[in-house]
Amino acid sequence: MTRESPPYLAGLEDILVGQPEDFVLTIRLNRPKARNALRTQLLKELADVLAQASNDDDVRCVLLTGGEKVFAAGADITEMKDKSPVDVINDPRGHYWAAIRDFAKPIVGAVNGFCLGGGNELAMHCDILFAGNTAQFGQPEINLGIIPGAGGTQRLTQMVGKSKAMRMVLSGEFMSATEAEKAGLIAEVCEPELTIDKALTLAKKIAKKPPLAARLAKESVLNAADTLLSDGIKAERKSFATLFASSDKQEGVSAFMEKRKPTFKGH
Ligand code: HXC
Repeated sequence: MTRESPPYLAGLEDILVGQPEDFVLTIRLNRPKARNALRTQLLKELADVLAQASNDDDVRCVLLTGGEKVFAAGADITEMKDKSPVDVINDPRGHYWAAIRDFAKPIVGAVNGFCLGGGNELAMHCDILFAGNTAQFGQPEINLGIIPGAGGTQRLTQMVGKSKAMRMVLSGEFMSATEAEKAGLIAEVCEPELTIDKALTLAKKIAKKPPLAARLAKESVLNAADTLLSDGIKAERKSFATLFASSDKQEGVSAFMEKRKPTFKGH
């Protein structure tokens, strides 16, 4: 269905949003020069658009996607450089992540290319994921002297199991789309040019279901995993903030920005 007015378009810099079509709203992360790094502005726009979509009866399902080569390269490392633990605790980003987490309508994700760090955490906020066969999933935060800070250690472990999650989080190694499908991180792997079509077809199918049932179905499935998740995420966030006091974090971030190998000292 098409609408006369384009209410989702005003003032957006970092994401592209279409008009609802067959009750599906498509959102595309759009900072290609920074590999779709999730700067605060991007998260804010995403949270704002989802808030609007929550109240829009023409939206029954959301399709979230990124670029052809990068879904998202994680948090914006340049924003992290001078942050203290107190800055992290006071950071509005926590509210934006919460808005994404609490969005009650189903979200289908279509991932192509790199899906790293906060990008992978965002992908894991989707309810169902499709990925192109060249996609790579990773939590490389350890290379910067930090750990995932948007639920990654908890959700990844629930989705792929302890050993594979530990491998990704401790070594920074990536997981291929094929392995991600085997491990349960994604629902289906396909040719990269089909990812969005497949995700959209499923999103439209879901959008034909009764919206209230779909909403409660989502809530119920998420409840299955949530018993201890919230405690885990709170603990993770404290650890994440604490690491912003470490010199290894300064070193990891500086080395990335200076395009050199980091030297970590353990403090
Ligand atoms: C800021 C980034 C960025 C990022 C890439 N860029 N990733 N800027 N934050 N996360 C910028 C580069 O600095 C560079 O800018 C431009 O994008 C292109 O990057 P390249 O590395 O040249 O591109 P490419 O060779 O295609 O490699 C893509 C990539 C790589 C594999 C995704 O960029 C990469 O490894 N990025 C970092 C991934 C990462 O460590 N993510 C975890 C972030 S921490 P210039 O100006 O030079 O063109 C995190 C914590 C989550 O996510 C906490 C949540 C609360």
